[in-house]
Amino acid sequence: MDDELTVVAIDGPAGSGKSTVARKLAEALELEYLDTGAMYRSVTFAALANGIDPDDEDKVAAVAREVRIDLDPDGSVVVDGVDATTQIRGPEVSRSVSAVAANQAVRSELVSRQREWARRRGGGVLEGRDIGTVVFPSARLKVYLTADPEVRASRRAREVTDLDYGAVAADLARRDQVDSSRRHDPLRQADDAIIVDTSQLTIDEVVALLVEKVDGGR
Ligand code: DC
Repeated sequence: MDDELTVVAIDGPAGSGKSTVARKLAEALELEYLDTGAMYRSVTFAALANGIDPDDEDKVAAVAREVRIDLDPDGSVVVDGVDATTQIRGPEVSRSVSAVAANQAVRSELVSRQREWARRRGGGVLEGRDIGTVVFPSARLKVYLTADPEVRASRRAREVTDLDYGAVAADLARRDQVDSSRRHDPLRQADDAIIVDTSQLTIDEVVALLVEKVDGGR
């Protein structure tokens, strides 16, 4: 039963601090951490590597069903045996990932892998866009992280070294728009999520606040 799992769901737009917060929160709670965005990026990487058009829904869906994705706790990502850690964050994958994430067949495949991942571990901290709304609606704690668009863009610009602030801000705005308006499982706040604006908070402040919330509930 999923109700018995200790799942913490962290959703929010790119650059809201999800990955860093989720990783540190998992450490503090002694749970494992899953970056579900890396899974959508891995499918995108595999499709591009095979010369498949990211908009070709059937072919991309077949890739999603067959691809082997190994996410290491140290952050490295291996796709079909190839180390794709750097490339999945690169401009080509970033440009195409929203189209792949809008593909319903890809989503259902990845959602079932994410559920399986958590069930095997008795829970975990999962980070993405639809964790509290679709993947684990019965999560122990649901968090929606957000931040001002300028803050999010400058955080992302610091992460990627090959693009300037303007390009990152534009890509982020475009992805926000596609991710929030897509037909299947768009980014939205779960009704029972705690909303945390991280614009003015340090990572440690956010993590401390969330640890308190989880501890309060167990
Ligand atoms: O968090 P990120 O930027 O690495 O996510 C990459 C893309 O994948 C982003 O455009 C939204 C999508 N995504 C999604 O649709 N559902 C998730 N659970 C995680 C990511």
